[in-house]
Amino acid sequence: MKKRILSGMRPTGRLHIGHLFGAIHNWAKLQKEYDCYFMVADWHALSTRYMDPSNIKQDIFEVVADYISGGIDPNECTFYVQSHVPEIAELHLLLSMMTPVAWAERCPTYKDQVQALGQDIATYGFLGYPILQTSDIICVKGEVVPVGQDQLPHLELAREIVRRFNRLYGDVFPEPQSKLTEFPMVPGTDGRKMSKSYNNAILMSDDPDTVWKKLKHTVTDPQKIYKGDPGRPEVCNIFYYHKLFNTKERCCQIEGECQSGSLGCAADKKELYEKLLEYMKPVYEKRKELEENPKIVADLLEKGGERARATVRQTLKEVKEAMKINY
Ligand code: TRP
Repeated sequence: MKKRILSGMRPTGRLHIGHLFGAIHNWAKLQKEYDCYFMVADWHALSTRYMDPSNIKQDIFEVVADYISGGIDPNECTFYVQSHVPEIAELHLLLSMMTPVAWAERCPTYKDQVQALGQDIATYGFLGYPILQTSDIICVKGEVVPVGQDQLPHLELAREIVRRFNRLYGDVFPEPQSKLTEFPMVPGTDGRKMSKSYNNAILMSDDPDTVWKKLKHTVTDPQKIYKGDPGRPEVCNIFYYHKLFNTKERCCQIEGECQSGSLGCAADKKELYEKLLEYMKPVYEKRKELEENPKIVADLLEKGGERARATVRQTLKEVKEAMKINY
């Protein structure tokens, strides 16, 4: 029996190559080794975007299209949208009965976000964010939860809630273990962390012309001005991208050629561009197919939602029995 994984993503819109090499490749590997449930957390998005939810639907499509074109195979895992499984909300309600408010209030992500975004976000629903996340995980009896560092406090809270539940009502849930994904910090075209909000990201869905424009403006070693100048690959963003898209052997050669000055930045960028297009070709093709026929995505999510619901209904039956509300 394969162990069960649950992980979720917020519908943040189009993803960049940092996501591809961090989360997506990682999940694509996990879907072979585990029984994976992957979920798009649209209610979680609503908790911070309730004032203007108009883009959430499109953003769900964009993330799902990027995940699928990046290698997540909905036939190998159960891939669904949170709100398609209303039983998650029912379990969230039941968990809220036995979760002390103080546990939610002391969550560092809550305090930080309220500090950063102000009282508009200090809602009942947002306070419950990590309890909803707990429901996401345990409604499918998730055992392993691949997440980034920032999510560890939520996982700790989930484990506490599970322990309390099992103690009060009997053993229903396994204690979920976090599995830290070592996200390589992919630099953006300006050298800061790649992020859409910094405007320095190469998106998975950028067309070749856009990619080339971005590479042309990508910062290399600022001390290498002319072709013959010796360069420092270790501070060059283009060299970092070579390590993602080019072969190991060629990266070694490029390192030497840059250091000696025989390779200029323009030629270096051109080569990277070609390698990137080659690497991304299947991703671009898959995405194009999904964009031209969004119904493929809708159908996949509907099927995934049905599969997830079957699992969650079974869990909820056990929960209600344990909590004595199955009249
Ligand atoms: N809160 C997570 C994030 O911001 C997304 C998420 C929602 C999640 N539900 C989850 C992650 C369940 C892991 C498990 O990235």
